[in-house]
Amino acid sequence: MTARILDGNALAQTLRADFKTRAEALAARGTRPGLAVILVGEDPASAVYVRNKVAACEKASFHSEKIVYPADVAQDVVLAKIAELNANPAIHGILVQLPLPAHFDSDRVLEAIAPAKDVDGFHAENVGALMQGQPRFIPCTPYGVTKFFEAAGIDLKGKEAVVIGRSNIVGKPMAMLLLQAGATVTICHSQTRDLAFHTKRADVLVAAVGRPRFVTADMVKPGAVVIDVGINRLQDGPDAGKLCGDVDFDGVREVAGAITPVPGGVGPMTITMLLANTLEAAERSVR
Ligand code: GUN
Repeated sequence: MTARILDGNALAQTLRADFKTRAEALAARGTRPGLAVILVGEDPASAVYVRNKVAACEKASFHSEKIVYPADVAQDVVLAKIAELNANPAIHGILVQLPLPAHFDSDRVLEAIAPAKDVDGFHAENVGALMQGQPRFIPCTPYGVTKFFEAAGIDLKGKEAVVIGRSNIVGKPMAMLLLQAGATVTICHSQTRDLAFHTKRADVLVAAVGRPRFVTADMVKPGAVVIDVGINRLQDGPDAGKLCGDVDFDGVREVAGAITPVPGGVGPMTITMLLANTLEAAERSVR
């Protein structure tokens, strides 16, 4: 069997067309969705992500502000900026790009963002709301993954779902969303014994490990839906410099029933759902 490819670019385009209509309706009422993105330091990957987020806002005719600080900026400076953005009516969403430099208390920074503007869904209040099954903002990457299930008509009720990775950004919220959709969920991580035992039972397998081509065909149940959240740049070998996911795409596509490619799978959906959350925040602000 060769897996069906779940095309993130196509799905993102469909969703963004709908956002455009909603943003126009909002603009007619005098509100333009606004997102502020804060970047601290010069991490090249973070700089690319932030640039792409701001570019997506511009393309969607959202207002956006990019605030860049040197790596040695004092935490209080960033906290004061967040307080200012919390009070700014032109800004509906605030995102602080992670990871922050080591001298920052990331939790303190994330908790400073007004929950109503926390479009990443990382504030404890929003994490709690998701946990209670009453989400206000769903973290963008797992939110994007749920859109693949919806668009492809994949019913999760009663399915075995396995998530590899337990981060606050992807693994934990992903597991919660799968649970709420009716799946039986296992979260695997670096200390899991016999990872393949778990992954081979998965009807739905989400890989968020951060290791290139980590999930191989022998770890996948025939017909499974495989979602690859990884974005890794290969360091050596014949494909050095190329982007690849956490899943060995060429091998796994011969076993899986459906699979997201890298690039062009989950990546475009993450930014799309950031737009969705920003639009939602703007709509709520005038309700
Ligand atoms: N760093 C990696 N992914 C993310 C994300 O989704 N949001 C933020 N703020 N930082 C990240």
